[in-house]
Amino acid sequence: MAKLNILEFPDPRLTTVAKPVENFDESLKKLVQDMTQTMYEANGIGLAATQVNVHKRLLVLDVSADQNQPRVYINPEITSQAGEQTHEEGCLSVPGIYASVKRAENITVKARDADGNVFEEQLEGLHAVCIQHEMDHLVGRLFVDYLSPLKRNMVRKKLEKQRKVAAKEAEDHLVI
Ligand code: NI
Repeated sequence: MAKLNILEFPDPRLTTVAKPVENFDESLKKLVQDMTQTMYEANGIGLAATQVNVHKRLLVLDVSADQNQPRVYINPEITSQAGEQTHEEGCLSVPGIYASVKRAENITVKARDADGNVFEEQLEGLHAVCIQHEMDHLVGRLFVDYLSPLKRNMVRKKLEKQRKVAAKEAEDHLVI
């Protein structure tokens, strides 16, 4: 397994619209494994292929308390949704930034597993939030896109500053 590089806002590649997966082959299984490992190592609960610069419709997530129930959703579609919930969301592509986002409370999602088998699930709560957040990535949308332009610009500046501080620290220290 390999850890993949995660793109960060405002990288324009994060706005790419992903294409459906057509081949359920060994390379897809390897990608699912690599994405799952990358998600766990980054302490995330979800990761969309877009975030690792693969523009195919798949996402991985694990919303279990013990982080031992990895799931994959390939070519996911939301076939019904109802209600409303608001969660404070973060994103591995927008590190250190959190904002409240309104999503559907209950969703029905239809997707395929890594072998190409179709399944359908009814989800609510955090699991439903996570799927909606990751499916946004697959159409090139980030949670900061729900913020006002002013707030989004503040996020951009904060991230630029964080990167500068991190680069300076790397310069000032001997990293072996
Ligand atoms: Ni995200």
